[in-house]
Amino acid sequence: MTLRPATPADRAALYRICLETADSGEDGTHLYRDPLLVGHVYAGPYLTFAPEHAFVLDDGEGVGGYVLGVLDTAAFSARLEREWWPALRAQYPDPVNVPPGERTPDERLAHLIHHPAAPDPALLAEYPSHLHIDLLPRMQGRGQGRRLFDHLFSSLRGAGSPGVHLGVGGRNTRAQAFYWHLGFHELSRSPGGALLMGLRL
Ligand SMILES: CC(C)(COP(=O)(O)OP(=O)(O)OC[C@H]1O[C@@H](n2cnc3c(N)ncnc32)[C@H](O)[C@@H]1OP(=O)(O)O)[C@@H](O)C(=O)NCCC(=O)NCCS
Repeated sequence: MTLRPATPADRAALYRICLETADSGEDGTHLYRDPLLVGHVYAGPYLTFAPEHAFVLDDGEGVGGYVLGVLDTAAFSARLEREWWPALRAQYPDPVNVPPGERTPDERLAHLIHHPAAPDPALLAEYPSHLHIDLLPRMQGRGQGRRLFDHLFSSLRGAGSPGVHLGVGGRNTRAQAFYWHLGFHELSRSPGGALLMGLRL
């Protein structure tokens, strides 16, 4: 299993992995009418604006896993506001008139594109970096998640980061347990059970 920096040629694979793990860690292909939407939010911006902290796993069958990190979340968010969201906002209408409980999965992501969550400055002072990790089933449970984390954490530490945070859905108890096991702790919990977790590097 090769672990290497992601390149622009990996874009389609990253988008596919993102979609195929989008249903609380399971294949989310059936949930979305537009197969690119999840990747536009959770994969594309990272490869485009933070390639130095983007790493993939290739097992010979192709790229089947990634970890995507960002050193400075505040600067990253500001950059997306200028250079990433505008084109997507033109493409995907804001479902602001659809009540939140009635939004389809596509509409929920379109809402995020128009109203991205603003990072909390107090959290960013301690955990300025953030990440996303996803492996296809054939790569799971073989130590590769830990390997990707070790690699990313060295890379973020080397760039001067004191801490990293991540978000995980309330239904994704498997990923939550993985993060606990790797030393993350709970920073906050939403009413729906989604966790914000942090780790000092
Ligand atoms: C969650 C995920 C990243 C974990 O990666 P992985 O490669 O399966 O995990 P690893 O095999 O590297 O496990 C690393 C360690 O965590 C432990 N671990 C993994 N999953 C665990 C779980 N559910 N409960 C307890 N421990 C767990 C392993 O036992 C291992 O322990 P050790 O290194 O001390 O022996 C991976 O399964 C995945 O991508 N799942 C689908 C997508 C997803 O849910 N992404 C997260 C979205 S927030």
